[in-house]
Amino acid sequence: MENTRFQLAPQGRCTGQLDPPGDKSISHRAIMLASLAQGTSEIRGLLPSGDCLATLEAFRNMGVQVHWLAPDRLRVHGAGLHGLQAPDGTLDMGNSGTAMRLLAGILCAQAFASTLSGDASLNARPMQRIADPLQAMGADITLSVAGTAPLEIRPCETLDAIDYVLPVASAQVKSCLLLAGLYAKGRTCITEPVRCRDHTENMLHTFSCAIEREDRRVCLQGGGELAATEIDIPGDLSSAAFFIVGSLISQDSHLTVKNVGINPTRTGALEILRQMGAKIDIRNERNYGEEPVADLVVTSSSLHGIDIPQNLVVDAIDEFPILFIAAACAKGITQLNGAKELRTKESDRIHTMVSGLQTLGIRAEERPDGVTITGGEFGAGTVDSGGDHRVAMAFAMASLAASGTITVADTGAVATSFPGFVESATQLGLLFE
Ligand code: S3P
Repeated sequence: MENTRFQLAPQGRCTGQLDPPGDKSISHRAIMLASLAQGTSEIRGLLPSGDCLATLEAFRNMGVQVHWLAPDRLRVHGAGLHGLQAPDGTLDMGNSGTAMRLLAGILCAQAFASTLSGDASLNARPMQRIADPLQAMGADITLSVAGTAPLEIRPCETLDAIDYVLPVASAQVKSCLLLAGLYAKGRTCITEPVRCRDHTENMLHTFSCAIEREDRRVCLQGGGELAATEIDIPGDLSSAAFFIVGSLISQDSHLTVKNVGINPTRTGALEILRQMGAKIDIRNERNYGEEPVADLVVTSSSLHGIDIPQNLVVDAIDEFPILFIAAACAKGITQLNGAKELRTKESDRIHTMVSGLQTLGIRAEERPDGVTITGGEFGAGTVDSGGDHRVAMAFAMASLAASGTITVADTGAVATSFPGFVESATQLGLLFE
């Protein structure tokens, strides 16, 4: 990946209107289900980022025909559940855990062998969590001795349905097993310890799969088909979150975020920020298919530290890098516990964020499953993103409340989720040098 850096002068603004790019989680699922459906689907508002393009390339490599109608609009000629062809070479999932884990569920059911690999970050992330239940279903999947990718998948005799209680709260593991369940003999049921994002369930229903849901349990019957459809993808709240916090921590900012997804399994960060004193209004609520969408109005606010409630951790899991920036700008102490999953993301986000905060003069301590951050003032300095897109964007926002120039090293990964980040940030008033 290109070795780029951000350099930002202090005291920019974050004001105006943001049309966030398409939701990354939903974009992956739209490409996957459209590829496996019978007939032609159209996806509008797709996120054309590195991660989603890795998913798309994998399906094209397996014979799925697609046509771009616009930079965010794609027509997909579905191959049907049994129409994929053996890929040419290793499937490269780049930086994307979602792409690798969900695709593994599909590939275990194919009549051909495949290998899934990724970049150094992805190939260090835990994959045993999908291999254990897939093997219990009868899949032939092997990992490295460290329990990581490359994943080697071979055809199996039969894939049996599973009734599985997830040991970790992971939408990626749940989704992997539901996708494998589409091919399995019998009824696959997954129970989650805590409610996780449910975009796979929503989208399976949109593609006419008879999926049954009750509280934290979801079931589907193998052996059906998916029917092509049209999909509108909401803006990504996880991408918008950088600008929401940017607007809260900068002076005289007023930000409108248009058409952003507010699925309740994703809005933990909005609730955490509100508890910290943020002024965020939700307006114009409506639905894109089964996904709730709204416009948000955010104004500069004086924030105070809180103990982050445990029940909001999973619903805010991708927003902690930018929430830590908010905590550094808040009066008093913010505590997070019960978030050890942050250590298994694109970087060890507890460690990368705490190191960067300390470099910029903020008191921050890490624990195995959380952090304590004391509000202060950001000084000048150079921080390393650890090759993590969300860490890079979070520290760019810190410039809005800093006393000197902030440089963020290794920012190439921003394109995995938000290719237009610098343009959007510049337009809203951040001062890139
Ligand atoms: C995702 C689920 C979450 C999240 C990731 C995207 C998804 O991961 O952190 O960025 O699209 O299903 P886990 O399911 O591993 O918690």
